[in-house]
Formats: sequence, C-alpha cells, structure tokens
Amino acid sequence: MENKKNVWLDADPGIDDAAAFAVLIAYRDRLNICGISSVAGNQSSDRVTANALKLTEFLGAADIPVVRGAAGPLLREPADAGDVHGTSGLGNCVLPEPKKELAAENGLLYMRDVILALPKGEQITIMAIGPLTNIALLIKTFPEVKERIERIVLMGGAAVGGNVTPTAEFNIWEDPEAAKIVFDAGIPIVMCGLDVTHLCGLTREQVDGLLESGGRVQRALGEMLKFYFESPAYQNSDRVYIHDATTALYLVHPEIFGGHMRRVDVDCSEGMNRGMTVCDMRCYDDDGVSCVGNVLVLDQADPVVYQKLLLEAFASFDRDE
Ligand code: BDR
Ligand code: CA
Repeated sequence: MENKKNVWLDADPGIDDAAAFAVLIAYRDRLNICGISSVAGNQSSDRVTANALKLTEFLGAADIPVVRGAAGPLLREPADAGDVHGTSGLGNCVLPEPKKELAAENGLLYMRDVILALPKGEQITIMAIGPLTNIALLIKTFPEVKERIERIVLMGGAAVGGNVTPTAEFNIWEDPEAAKIVFDAGIPIVMCGLDVTHLCGLTREQVDGLLESGGRVQRALGEMLKFYFESPAYQNSDRVYIHDATTALYLVHPEIFGGHMRRVDVDCSEGMNRGMTVCDMRCYDDDGVSCVGNVLVLDQADPVVYQKLLLEAFASFDRDE
C-alpha cells in the first residue's frame, strides 16, 4: 500500500463543504488528514468553525484537529452566502452539538507547526474550499512552509463565467487579494472552478434518495442538499452542483477529471470584474513567446462516475451502523 497522502483542509462549511468533508473522511485509508482550518465565507467565523467541529464528530473523525482561521477577508468586511447555505451554514440540518474543542488558540501558528513537523522529505496538499484568506496569510507570514506544500487544490474561480457576479465565483470574489497572493505564490495549483463543478451534480431524485435512505449520514447530507433547491439559484433546476465535493473527489479520483495548464491572474480592481480569475487560454505570452501556465484548470469530468463515487462515499458511513 502506497503511503497516505498528507492533506490539510481549509473550509467555510457550508453545505457543499460538508459533502467534501464526507468524501475526504470516507477516503481516510488513502489520506492522512492532518487538520482542518475554518475561514469565514459561507457564514460567519463562529458558525463555520462550529460546523467544522460538528461535522468531524458527526462523521466519526473527531480525532482530526480543527482550528479557527480568519474571521474575514484581507481588505473587506465579510459578505456571507446565507441565501444559499442558510443561517447556520448547513441548511435545515441540525447536527448534534460537538464535545470536541478547537485544537489550538491560533489557527495559523498551528497550521505552520503541523506543516513544518512533517517527516523529512514529505510534503502536504492543501485543499482549500473557501475564500483563500487563511492560505494567503499562511504563506505570507511563514514563507518557509511553501517548500513543504506539494500543491494547492482549490475550489474557486472559473475560466468562463461566475456565480456571484457574471464573471466572479464566490470564493475568489469574497477575497480577491488573498486569491492573488495564492495564485502568485509559485506553488503548483489545481483550480477546480465552475468550469468543472458545473459539469458535476446530483439530481433531485438522487437527493431524495439520500433523504429516504435509512442512513444517519446520508439523511443529514440529503437534508442539507435539499436546502439548495430552495435557493433562487436552484429553484428551477433539476440538479444541484456540489462544488467542494467535486474538489474532494478530484483529490482521490483524478482520473475522472481533465484540464489544461493556464496562466491565471485575479482581478482585484474595484470594477465590474472584481474577483474574476482571468485565465489565459493562449499558449504564448504577450511577447509571442510560448509559455506554460501556472495552474491546472480543470474543465472536464465524467459526471456519471462522479455521481456513483459521491453516493458511494456518502453511503460508506452508514454501512456498518
Ligand atoms: C463555492 O462558494 C461557496 O458558497 C461554496 O461552499 C463553494 O466553496 C462555490 O462558488
Ligand atoms: Ca466552500
């Protein structure tokens, strides 16, 4: 058996974040989940931090350390996505209060310590499924961690289009300055943006199937995902996108995805494209010299295998109960 892949999860849970937690935890036989940091995004820092504690415990992974990260973007006040994720962040689903406590007072220091304490020669993958505030602060404050980061696999951005504005995706739009720091850091990046997450989803019938299943975890995830259908974005839709779970599945099943290396920049202006990930689709730079991009931008997926793997991961929690 190959060595387990070291992973740090940075998240703003959030309904699709919860689904991503489930995917990663379902694959703990392949992943060494070294810790989880919360970041304000879908809901306030207090709510997403509480959700991270609740989710790890509910999913039988209370041993994974959870720490609190940034309470808001680098330059602006937080703007949550309660219209999509609900007041708690987890739709109508009420999870038991956790017994578990935060692993440290200072999340950033804890992340640094965990990364630098990795055995000699080992690296870590950061999976970031919220605004990139924590990751920007981490690499700016402790640049020595950069060489221990194998890559950052992030949910954010799009080569084409947006979901908060016509050209910006929520995680990047929430903190574009942080995103720019991360994209410019020289660390390999996989961008699991709307180009690929909009290829993958679950149907209303599949979500109903989760709700009707006898399983504790499937029902809870079904309740959360059902909430999506009540938001304006999905009212007339026959499927929901589960962006963050798509990113988590990429980590464990990259073979069902495809993409292109692109140069990606982030629009930090105050103009109408603030938060846009500008993906250079050309294969040469402004001087006509051929160039390779800095980011693997995912834009292909097998949506049927995706559904199968996702539902299997959810079901795996209820099998032995
Ligand atoms: C992203 O924004 C958040 O609302 C979701 O959790 C996901 O990470 C999708 O644009
Ligand atoms: Ca998220």
